[in-house]
Amino acid sequence: MYYTNPFYRCSDDDYETPEIIDLITEALRDERSDRAKYGMMMDMTDDPEVQRQIRFAYDDEGKHYKLFQNLYEELTGSTIDMPMPEPKKYPTLLDAIQTSINGELAAVELYRKIKAMLPTQVMRDTLYEIITDEQEHATRFTYLYAMLK
Ligand SMILES: [Fe+2]
Ligand SMILES: [Fe+2]
Repeated sequence: MYYTNPFYRCSDDDYETPEIIDLITEALRDERSDRAKYGMMMDMTDDPEVQRQIRFAYDDEGKHYKLFQNLYEELTGSTIDMPMPEPKKYPTLLDAIQTSINGELAAVELYRKIKAMLPTQVMRDTLYEIITDEQEHATRFTYLYAMLK
């Protein structure tokens, strides 16, 4: 018996990238830029409690990046790696925190969509774990926003 992976990349020139692969590529890019942003945000404060809260998200985005890399590889048979981008600058830490709340909630929306398109329960469980992490980040940034404003 042969198992044909429906997402496996072939060399056909007319091959169109399935939507789920595009969305996972978008997720990889977002995880990279969020990690770069949170690294920069930790440098914008000397308050250890603020740094600690941001570090939870910083560490998780590194973990998520690897999980999305694994998913990409399982679905396509190809590896993918993205450079860490230069983070966008914000006038104040509070501005960066506020945009991070929205960014985390947008990630939840995107990842729900990806979860619904994944072919196996194990893959969907991975997305569930990532989604709950992003919800936790949104809560931590909301706490920081209330604390610093
Ligand atoms: Fe993430
Ligand atoms: Fe996050």
